[in-house]
Amino acid sequence: MRPICFAMTDTPTPFPLPTHNPELISFLETRRSNLAKSMAAPGPDAGTRDKILEIAARVPDHRKLAPWRFVVFEGDARSSFGQHISTAFIAANPTAPADRAIFEGARLTRAPLVVAVISSPVDCPRGTPKWEQELSAGAVCFNMCLAAQSHGFGAQWLTEWYAFDDSVNAALKLSEGQRVAGYIYIGTATAGSLPRTRPVLENVTEYYGKS
Ligand SMILES: Cc1cc2nc3c(=O)[nH]c(=O)nc-3n(C[C@H](O)[C@H](O)[C@H](O)COP(=O)(O)O)c2cc1C
Repeated sequence: MRPICFAMTDTPTPFPLPTHNPELISFLETRRSNLAKSMAAPGPDAGTRDKILEIAARVPDHRKLAPWRFVVFEGDARSSFGQHISTAFIAANPTAPADRAIFEGARLTRAPLVVAVISSPVDCPRGTPKWEQELSAGAVCFNMCLAAQSHGFGAQWLTEWYAFDDSVNAALKLSEGQRVAGYIYIGTATAGSLPRTRPVLENVTEYYGKS
């Protein structure tokens, strides 16, 4: 099991009790992802990027296992990693036109900052199920989107095909049991997102004990 170090970022005094926060409610009620293909520079500066990552890591995590890790792609690292993506694409699609392989290799360059969130569940001696640890990785992905958007950047959680490709994942040094939970694309949004239909509450909700 890999060693996990925790930094004490919380103050030793309790946080304030929750208060009604209309601005936050409005943000959550109207939140939409921003398309990666509509993102542009600039991305967050180094300090803001780290703040976004720190906030992303502040998620429910049963028994403080930190069962996830980040791989950050900025600058040339995006296209250099893209070579693994285009190689994997060509291997799976040997007859595809060359420009398609170039397109695939450029996927990460759509945004100035891309973060791969790797679900890294551990064999917890105290019994936290792997499922809970994987859920925590999903929470990290969404929290990262919220953190980026609340700093004024667009964000989108994508997996596309390359999150599931063994050779691309080997380049991320995924070990047994590790999976890509998402590639989080972050950058300046250049186009607003249209409203998206949402589930009707009564279709996804039941009130136990009431008919
Ligand atoms: C695990 C996961 C993987 C996703 N992968 C993709 C993807 O590969 N391509 C895509 O168009 N949307 C993908 N989405 C959906 C978008 O992130 C986003 O949720 C969707 O566009 C709806 O936008 P909203 O966040 O505004 O509701 C994925 C979502 C999740 C939770």
